[in-house]
Amino acid sequence: MPAMPDEHEQFLARALELAARGRGAVEPNPMVGAVIVRDGQVIGEGFHQRFGGPHAEVEAIAAARRAGHDVAGATMYVSLEPCCHQGKTPPCTEAIIAAKIARVVAAMEDPDRQVSGKGVAALRAAGVEVVTGVCRDQARRLLAGYVKLRTQGRPWIICKWAQSLDGRIATFTGHSKWISGEASRQRAHALRGQCDGVCVGVGTVKADDPLLTNRSGSGRQPARVVLDEALDIPLRCRLLASTDLSPVIIAACQEAPERARQAVRQAGAEVLILPPAPGGVDLAALLDELGRRQWTYLLVEGGRGVLGSFLGSRLADELVVFVAPRLLGGRRSLGPVAAHPGALPPGGGARRRGGGGRLRGARPDGRGAGQGRQGEADPQLPRPDVGGGGL
Ligand SMILES: NC(=O)c1ccc[n+]([C@@H]2O[C@H](COP(=O)([O-])OP(=O)(O)OC[C@H]3O[C@@H](n4cnc5c(N)ncnc54)[C@H](OP(=O)(O)O)[C@@H]3O)[C@@H](O)[C@H]2O)c1
Repeated sequence: MPAMPDEHEQFLARALELAARGRGAVEPNPMVGAVIVRDGQVIGEGFHQRFGGPHAEVEAIAAARRAGHDVAGATMYVSLEPCCHQGKTPPCTEAIIAAKIARVVAAMEDPDRQVSGKGVAALRAAGVEVVTGVCRDQARRLLAGYVKLRTQGRPWIICKWAQSLDGRIATFTGHSKWISGEASRQRAHALRGQCDGVCVGVGTVKADDPLLTNRSGSGRQPARVVLDEALDIPLRCRLLASTDLSPVIIAACQEAPERARQAVRQAGAEVLILPPAPGGVDLAALLDELGRRQWTYLLVEGGRGVLGSFLGSRLADELVVFVAPRLLGGRRSLGPVAAHPGALPPGGGARRRGGGGRLRGARPDGRGAGQGRQGEADPQLPRPDVGGGGL
């Protein structure tokens, strides 16, 4: 009996749920999940678990067979068009055709222009029925980082900060560590564990001397990036003392003195020379370089100068904001976003009601943020045909 559209959505939603389990482990590959269904019953499930490992389609076929099911004639629901090229593993289209799967329902085509549509074409040429576009928006939302890297050659930028109820990220003396609680710190560490790198400005290194590692107990250890035009970073900071934990990259400009470059390199960190721009190093050039290194997610953790630059340059894709139920007060305590030269109107900030950056898809949800609440916003992703573009 042919599956009803609702059924397609139900099984693809499950495939997307499975896909999401690969977050932080599969990049720069896409997160992919697959579900095999016969007569309305799930007979096999799988997802891409780690970079270089078997793909979701192959995992699902293997799981069905392990459970004693014949997959011939069944329907496969998969969150992304199956690949048709030899990469680290053989093409999934071949595995699907060999297993005699009768129909493939895929959420979206692969955004990579070199492979897009070719997997679908190979399956159809072999007589497999293919349906695409079911749950496409959800799939594109899940794969935002992959889509942006493949289409724009840059990582997805998540700007994250913790603030008080009255919108302050630090006291006027620069103290900020105690704003968020234990639960939100755990979530922030878990977020680091899903990203290729964490980025701060040298102001934050001087104020807080952070390690910027993932101490959640699971996930990856991100690289650490410091924006430091003049290579002014204190040589005794914890970042430079911990280059054995994960790479440390100091992004500076040509003016950075040779002695400082040598000292930073001697500590085991990389000095990345970028063109200058108003406010410091050229962020667009930084993102192009990180894209060349196949970074999929960059977490920008501040401080206000760097957040102001990313937001003011419209380079942020997503905001994660922890809001603690505290009032900091004080006219001189710091807000999260500093004025960025050239990007904001004179005097700083929006001039009229309704001006400034508007957030689409903001979800203040309070999930597990301990003594604070968390709001997340994906400013532009609901547009399914666009892979990023800034706030
Ligand atoms: N609550 C939170 O979530 C949180 C998180 C982080 C930090 N903080 C607080 O934020 C405060 C630090 O903020 P901050 O504004 O002084 O420091 P920052 O944003 O960390 O660093 C700013 C510095 O980064 C360098 N930089 C290089 N390229 C840049 C670019 N393209 N755009 C902007 N900056 C660039 C500049 O120094 P050069 O010109 O010398 O390169 C600039 O002065 C501290 O009080 C810290 O505690 C709070």
